[in-house]
Amino acid sequence: MQISFNNGLHTAVPSEDGSYTAYSKEYGEHYHSTKDGALNESLKKHIVPAFEHVKEKDEVHILDICFGLGLNTLGTILYYRELAPQTKLHIHSPELDDNLVRSLMYFRYPHSFKPLRPIIEAISTVGSYEDETLSVEVFLGDAREYVKKFHKHFDIVYQDAFSPSVNPLLWTKEYFRDIAHAIKENGILTTYSTALKTRLALHQNDFFVYLAQEKGVRDFTLASLQPIPNLKRVDMAHKISCNPHVKPLCDTQVTQISHY
Ligand SMILES: C[S@@+](CC[C@H](N)C(=O)[O-])C[C@H]1O[C@@H](n2cnc3c(N)ncnc32)[C@H](O)[C@@H]1O
Repeated sequence: MQISFNNGLHTAVPSEDGSYTAYSKEYGEHYHSTKDGALNESLKKHIVPAFEHVKEKDEVHILDICFGLGLNTLGTILYYRELAPQTKLHIHSPELDDNLVRSLMYFRYPHSFKPLRPIIEAISTVGSYEDETLSVEVFLGDAREYVKKFHKHFDIVYQDAFSPSVNPLLWTKEYFRDIAHAIKENGILTTYSTALKTRLALHQNDFFVYLAQEKGVRDFTLASLQPIPNLKRVDMAHKISCNPHVKPLCDTQVTQISHY
């Protein structure tokens, strides 16, 4: 019997660049922007800008929030194999939905991912993969708990949770405080969110916040605890003075909302 990726919780959906994403019935959102294209979004908003920041390093530690369909993790592996095959990559990725991870064996990945088949099967069955230049650990559990284990460990954080409106606990000021603790001083955070509330949560945890633009995708955000030259800095003082009532999401407020 042919086992399908589609079930009561998620359905595979084609996106604009021909790659597949999925729709989550639980969150009422797609895992990627169907308009930007799933793989295109992953490459342009996360993989490429972060690679530009770390390309001189021999060893790179990445936190991928959250694993989902694994396009960020798998796309990263392929990209480094092509452009920096000698770099040692360590990818850590939390994911709450263990059934989703198990079903990834049957997900329709882009043809370019064919060489990654053994990695996809290992992650889907045992949740990890390791060879001489690569280690991947998918932690089946809550990202909020997982990130607390790390101190100044990550060169890159891909902040790619569902949107703040449906998954607010992965966008609060307290959450980004833990991310600030887990990322290296010269690390880079990438996220598709350009919401002022997200940028404020980063800013209030001492991140420098940058506007990033790439052809073929909507604007996105980069952030670092140290200034990054040649990027377009967001003038947070100006944003705050124009929007004095906007506040970052915070844990207490989010927990109260989710109890109604
Ligand atoms: C937008 S998707 C991630 C897409 C992924 N980066 C990719 O490239 O396919 C968000 C994922 O976050 C997971 N998630 C939601 N809340 C979580 C939590 N507290 N801890 C870990 N994973 C969580 C969801 O199950 C979903 O798979």
